[in-house]
Amino acid sequence: MNPTVSPKFLVERDAWKTLAAHFRTARQWHLRDLFANDPQRGERLNAEAAGWFLDYSKNRITDETIKLLLQLARESRLSERIEAMFRGDKINFTEDRAALHVALRAPRSESMLVDNRNVVPEVHAVLDRMADFADRVRCGTWKGYTGKPIRNLVNIGIGGSDLGPVMAYEALKHYSTRTITFRFVSNIDGSDLEEATRGLDPAETLFIVSSKMFNTLETITNARSARQWLLNGLGADEKAVAKHFVAVSTQAQRVADFGIDTTNMFGFWDWVGGRYSMGSAIGLSTMIAIGPEHFRAMLDGFRQMDEHFRREPFERNLPVIMALLNIWNNNFFGAPAVAVLPYEQYLKRFPAYLQQLTMESNGKNVTLDGQAVNYDTCPVYFGEPGTNGQHSFYQLIHQGTRLIPCDFIAFAQELVPLGHHHELLLANAFAQGEALAFGLRPEEVRDTPSWLVPHRVFTGNRPSNTLLAERLTPTTLGALVALYEHVVFTQGVIWNINSFDQWGVQLGKVLAQNIAAELESTGDPELKHDSSTNNLICRYRRLKKR
Ligand code: F6P
Repeated sequence: MNPTVSPKFLVERDAWKTLAAHFRTARQWHLRDLFANDPQRGERLNAEAAGWFLDYSKNRITDETIKLLLQLARESRLSERIEAMFRGDKINFTEDRAALHVALRAPRSESMLVDNRNVVPEVHAVLDRMADFADRVRCGTWKGYTGKPIRNLVNIGIGGSDLGPVMAYEALKHYSTRTITFRFVSNIDGSDLEEATRGLDPAETLFIVSSKMFNTLETITNARSARQWLLNGLGADEKAVAKHFVAVSTQAQRVADFGIDTTNMFGFWDWVGGRYSMGSAIGLSTMIAIGPEHFRAMLDGFRQMDEHFRREPFERNLPVIMALLNIWNNNFFGAPAVAVLPYEQYLKRFPAYLQQLTMESNGKNVTLDGQAVNYDTCPVYFGEPGTNGQHSFYQLIHQGTRLIPCDFIAFAQELVPLGHHHELLLANAFAQGEALAFGLRPEEVRDTPSWLVPHRVFTGNRPSNTLLAERLTPTTLGALVALYEHVVFTQGVIWNINSFDQWGVQLGKVLAQNIAAELESTGDPELKHDSSTNNLICRYRRLKKR
């Protein structure tokens, strides 16, 4: 059962009603006027934490809006819920679990409890084992079955067991060893594994099978095929597996049943959700890529943001502010999506990572008490690195009919200096926020025939946040991820939903098992689906000559 005392239904809270009244005026504001009437707002509407500066002045808000949104956070009992998370309460009550990913980045000296047991020593014991293993792989003392050092690492996992590792690997590539090739396999589509192993020497290849539950169809199917690939390449000696396969999981028995020696297993715990797991042993590939010291620096970044979220008053609290602005845009202005736009090529997988974090967490339609919500919850998160997105979907953001708030993410210092590239990159980031906010009025469109003017006008008044840090480092990356984790948490608290389960992914998995048998059947299976699904199965079987 849900252990929390539910506050009033969201739309019945006093702050919500006051915000709704406030919105009737706010909807008429234009950012041009907000800046004209309050020229200092760009210097005032910002906040800082853990190396990140947030400018939120280009939102359709005034100080009064912020005051009301903060009141909404208080009426939603956000402080109590934050404490419940840090205390290790089973806030993921539908799965009877704590959501204590913050313990993954707690220092050794700290105590964090799950079921009255301090879990921090176990966290550090695993981190120490990971560091020892990572060092051995990196310096070549961990040898493959034929005595060769490891030159290729393939992480097999999906969802949180893939997106965090691949995002972090790409984000921190600048800091990574270049003597090992890193590849990531997630899709059950055989072409993914084929391409990931193409050209690799099995004798020099290490597979990390990453799966919290170790029964995920995609991962286990890929891991079995990878083992076959290895054995084909190394003369079918089963003993080779121990030198080329390690596992990351909470399920020792399933790991052993698969045939991986559990001494080569790195554990984590059921209180770490898949999409919150990149700081756990799921980050083993990250640690091998960037080394234990950088990995700890990344955890320190997470930690700094955790502390900020837990202790900073809401009016200066980055995750709280970003979450509240998102609720303002989503629930009052009806914005259906958020674009996340890193002006940093190394963050190219960050939007993909955020898709799972945000939408698997908050894509829910019932409250903690199981009542249907009568307001929108999670918007669609999407994005691409700038400036590529500018030449793709920004048209819709500038001139489309939907309001798409943007999060611009940028760094003052480039990791790879090259001529004026970085100034041009950052100029684009800042220019986009400016264009979205202020637009281009008809009188500003010069030398244009009147019939063309409507096409060239930009309405502006489109909100954005800009997140700026000095440099992309393991620490700033950790802080950035923790920032969004806590944004998601705060949104979930306001919407009064459970951000930590994902029942919505189950049904498709179950149905796929039945259909797989029907697709593979050599006989003539009796199909009992709807007419569309039956027809698709029949057509598939015909095309496959079954
Ligand atoms: O998509 C559902 C899900 O359970 C995710 O939450 C999780 O990250 C992913 O599958 C992979 O799960 P596992 O790590 O257990 O293989």
